[in-house]
Amino acid sequence: MKYQEFYNKSISNPEAFWKEQSEQISWYSKPENILSKNDKGHNQWFEDGKLNLSYLCIDKHIEDGYGRQNAIIYDSPVTNSKEIITYNRLHKEVSKLAGALKEIGLKKGDTAIVYMPMIPQAVYAMLACARIGVIHSVVFGGFAPNELAIRIDDCKPKVILTASSGIEIDRIIPYKPYVDEAIKLAEHKPNSVIIYQRHLGADTPGKPYDIDYLSALNTATPAEPVEVESTHPLYILYTSGTTGKPKGIIRDSGGYATALKFSMNYVYGVHSGDVFWAASDVGWVVGHSYIVYGPLLNRNTTVLFEGKPIRTPDASTFWRIIEEYKVKVMFTAPTAIRAIKKEDPNGEFLKQYDLSNLKYQFLAGERCDAATLKWTEDKLKVPVIDHWWQTESGWPMLANMAGVELATVKPGSATFPVCGYDIQIMSEEGEIVPNGKEGYVVVKLPLPPGNLKNIWGNPERFVAGYLSRFPGYYFSGDGGYKDEDGYVFITGRVDDVINVAGHRLSTAEMEEVVASHPSVAECAVIGINDDLKGQIPLALVVTKTDNKLAESVIQTEVIKDVRKSIGPVASLKQVVLVDRLPKTRSGKILRKLLRSIADNDQYKIPSTIDDPLIIKEIENKFISHKVGNTKK
Ligand code: COA
Ligand code: AMP
Repeated sequence: MKYQEFYNKSISNPEAFWKEQSEQISWYSKPENILSKNDKGHNQWFEDGKLNLSYLCIDKHIEDGYGRQNAIIYDSPVTNSKEIITYNRLHKEVSKLAGALKEIGLKKGDTAIVYMPMIPQAVYAMLACARIGVIHSVVFGGFAPNELAIRIDDCKPKVILTASSGIEIDRIIPYKPYVDEAIKLAEHKPNSVIIYQRHLGADTPGKPYDIDYLSALNTATPAEPVEVESTHPLYILYTSGTTGKPKGIIRDSGGYATALKFSMNYVYGVHSGDVFWAASDVGWVVGHSYIVYGPLLNRNTTVLFEGKPIRTPDASTFWRIIEEYKVKVMFTAPTAIRAIKKEDPNGEFLKQYDLSNLKYQFLAGERCDAATLKWTEDKLKVPVIDHWWQTESGWPMLANMAGVELATVKPGSATFPVCGYDIQIMSEEGEIVPNGKEGYVVVKLPLPPGNLKNIWGNPERFVAGYLSRFPGYYFSGDGGYKDEDGYVFITGRVDDVINVAGHRLSTAEMEEVVASHPSVAECAVIGINDDLKGQIPLALVVTKTDNKLAESVIQTEVIKDVRKSIGPVASLKQVVLVDRLPKTRSGKILRKLLRSIADNDQYKIPSTIDDPLIIKEIENKFISHKVGNTKK
């Protein structure tokens, strides 16, 4: 099939296109109404369809005779353990856990937080919620208790599912104590906390709300899947925005299931029965879509990897897993490849493994630099596909659609729009710009199935953040351009969101923490280029006139505060004290200019700057503090 023809069909008649795709999944009640408007006037897909994601990911395959197929391969170098879970076993684990949730009073429409490391119980928890119509919200383990508390207050879970602890390379992460601390900080108090005891030697003092995971399972009656409407929220996933408060992206059920099934076949080019590996974390959207729901819906075997690309134990781990489990398609972030490349530049480890089953290597989560792309292509000798998407979309928006027709790769471009996405580049004034010209990346409405339904508890932010800037279009928050052949190049965020080692973080949120330090008068946090992580945060601090603390003390304290409040994943390691910040005459901090100085890029001093002399001061500071590219 030719890409262009397939794509055109999806744009010229989205209803017919997605109706056909929706027939690839088993509905309890097939939708008649394919695309409609909800009571707020927003588009919705398959309104009158009824289904259950847990049924589609498990029971359906068993009914079709594939109960003995492997559903999950759990590989954990950090605990030196491996486990294979068949669809039959997955059914048992999930239906029992769903039964246990029902017994403690959870029902359709309730919310539950899952705060767990990369263990099978995290997947069971998500599917158990989906089974009984409970809306889950998975929180990434690298976030601190304070961040967990913010999410508890926002989505008000009846229960939190957690584990006693996790392992970050060689360090124990005390999940359960973090949950206790978060509950203490939060105003909303969940009724129960279900704890999967890992026996890793961490102390987990008991609380009145504690329920032991295995004991609850032992006494539970397995629960059957409940029918939910296509528009019923499957999950809430918090992501960073331009303010200090994360936003809870709501995903529907029917649109998401249709889109994921479509993407497994046409974007990733995998067939039922193949082994698929997304080396991400269940706490991110990649984990939701391509560790859990996508591969399981498509009856693939999914790899659940509790480790890192390096140091668990070394840079050979990815290749070992590909060989050992005959992975056909793999997905990771460019930063993971850069980490491997740094340790093993000539790919010596790679030569020791048989990677002949690998057909495609997908990369996403951040911009893929040409050197990383080339190294991966040279070493793996398979198509390396950079593709672009976001928590909001839930599945790829730009890709080289491997299951349709592979186009020639242009380094730096995530290739063409995926079926259903009418992607345009807009000027500030809302005009579509000519090819070659950079602008805002937008998608013409209606967005295809699977995209965000709304923001939990904040419908105004949904409209303000995504829909009102360019009426009739979804605003992605990214900048980019199209070339003369229609390839789309994403150049980076145009807001205060940064991408650190494939993790999406808000500089505004970090600024709130930095600004709350008693010695700080004002501050700016910007994302600067980093060879390994793509971007890293840099804090610029102006101290109060009466400050008595030494520079090094402020730096240490600010770094500690951010780690404590947001989590280690924030990766703030550099704080520079400056006398003042460059601003426009109206008082706006010139962050883009600061980034250009740190990255050693060419820049023009904006005519709106209030004091041009400040530039030299900042440049000198950056050089003396070895900031970003100024150190070279
Ligand atoms: N739980 C607790 N802490 C975590 C964590 C988790 N799940 N994930 C990361 N952290 C901690 C790290 O230990 C590190 O702590 P440190 O500052 O004490 O060293 C900190 O958060 C920053 O982590 P990270 O940015 O991941 O840097 P790193 O140096 O530990 O690892 C890479 C670098 C490139 C190996 C790692 O980032 C990686 O594997 N990236 C792939 C990213 C990815 O898959 N993203 C998903 C989107 S597709
Ligand atoms: P997240 O919501 O965490 O998946 O992060 C989404 C953001 O990551 C996007 O808005 C982009 O800024 C960035 N991103 C993801 N994939 C790519 C890619 N292939 N190329 C460039 N940027 C990307």
